[in-house]
Amino acid sequence: MKILITGGAGFIGSHVVRLFVNKYPHYQIYNLDKLTYAGNLKNLIDVEDKPNYSFIKADIVDETHIFEVFNEHKFDAVIHLAAESHVDRSITNPNEFIMTNVIGTANLLNASRHIWGDKMDGKLFYHISTDEVYGTLGDTGMFTETTPYDPHSPYSASKASSDHIVRAYHDTYGLPTIISNCSNNYGPNQFPEKLIPLFIHNIRNKKSLPVYGKGENVRDWLYVEDHARAIDVVFHSNKLGETYNIGGHNEWKNIDLINKLCDLVDDALGQPTGSSKELITFVKDRAGHDLRYAIDATKIKNELDWEPQETVETGFRKTVQWYLDNQEWLDDVTSGDYQGYYEQQYDKR
Ligand code: NAD
Ligand code: TYD
Repeated sequence: MKILITGGAGFIGSHVVRLFVNKYPHYQIYNLDKLTYAGNLKNLIDVEDKPNYSFIKADIVDETHIFEVFNEHKFDAVIHLAAESHVDRSITNPNEFIMTNVIGTANLLNASRHIWGDKMDGKLFYHISTDEVYGTLGDTGMFTETTPYDPHSPYSASKASSDHIVRAYHDTYGLPTIISNCSNNYGPNQFPEKLIPLFIHNIRNKKSLPVYGKGENVRDWLYVEDHARAIDVVFHSNKLGETYNIGGHNEWKNIDLINKLCDLVDDALGQPTGSSKELITFVKDRAGHDLRYAIDATKIKNELDWEPQETVETGFRKTVQWYLDNQEWLDDVTSGDYQGYYEQQYDKR
C-alpha cells in the first residue's frame, strides 16, 4: 500500500509518519510537505533512511504540481494533516489559512478522485481536523460528533470549511473518506508558538509568560503519540463516511496548566519550586477567544477501542524533559523569522 501523509514534517504529522514507517514496513510512506516555518525535516531524522519512507517537497495549493505527484505515485490512501495551524497567525493573516486549509484540501480531494476514478475499493482519504470547528462550550457539556459546527477564528472556519468539502466529496462522488476531530495536542516537536512549548521555552530563558485575558479558558489536552495511535486505529477501521472525535479527557484551565508547567520546569531545572511563576504576565486577550473545548470520545472508545494511554503526570513530565533536553532543536526553530513573529505577536499586547 502506498500512503501519502501530508504535513508529515510538522508536529503531529511527524509522529504519524514515524508510527507508520516503523509499524508497517510493508507500506510505502510518502511525506509531502511544503516546509513552511512549522515544517522541519529534523523531526524525522530517525526514519529518513528507512527503505519505506520518502519525502516530497510540494505545496498543496499548487494544483498542477499536486496532480503530477498523484499521477506519478498513484497513492492508495491519503492521511491529510498539512495545514496552517496557529489561531493567532490566522487572525493576522487569514488568507494563508483559506488557501492552504480550504483550497489545498480541495486540490488533494480532486487529485484523489482523478487517480482513483471508479476504482475506489480499498482506497481512503482520511482528513485530520480539530475540535475547534464546533466553536466554544460554556461551563458544561462536551463536543460529540453531531455537535453543529460554529467556528469563530479564521483557523477554525477554514478547517470547518475543509471538513464540509471532504463530506461533500463522500456524499456526492462516493469518495471513501473519514474525518477525525481532535482536541489540543502536546508533546515533543511542537513549534514554540503554541502554549506549552512556548511557555517551557520562555521559562528556560527567563522571559515573561503572556497569559491571554484572565487565563480562564479551558482546553482538553492530548499527548501527541496518543493522537498518532488514534489515527492508526481510525485509518484501519474501514468506517467510510464516519467522523470520530479524539480527546484526552484532560481539561485544564489555562492558568492552572501554566502553574503546573512552572512547577514541573522548576523541578526539572533544580530551581526553587514556584520561582518561574513570577514570569506570569496577564496580557490583552485573543480576539474571538473560545472559552472552553472538551471532547466526548465515547464513540471511538466504543467502536474502535481507543483511549489515551498517557496520563497528565507522565505526559506533561515527558514533554517538559524533551524540550529541556532538546535545546538545539528549539534554537534551530527559533532562529530565522521567529523573532519577528514574536515581536509582532506579543510586544503590542
Ligand atoms: P503544524 O503547524 O505543526 O504542521 C503543519 C505542517 O503542514 C508543516 O509541516 C507545514 O510545513 C505543512 N504545510 C503547511 N502548509 C502547507 C502547504 N500549503 N502545502 C504542504 N504542506 C504544508 O500543525 P500540527 O499541529 O501538526 O497539525 C497538523 C494537523 O492536525 C492540522 O491539520 C491541524 O489542523 C490538525 N490538528 C492539530 C491540533 C493541535 O493541537 N496541534 C489539534 C487537532 C487537529
Ligand atoms: P494554543 O496553544 O494557541 O492552542 P488553541 O488556541 O488552538 O487552543 O493556545 C492554547 C490556549 O492558551 C488558548 O486558550 C490560548 C492560550 N494562550 C495564552 O494564554 N498565551 C499564549 O501566548 C498562547 C500562545 C496561548
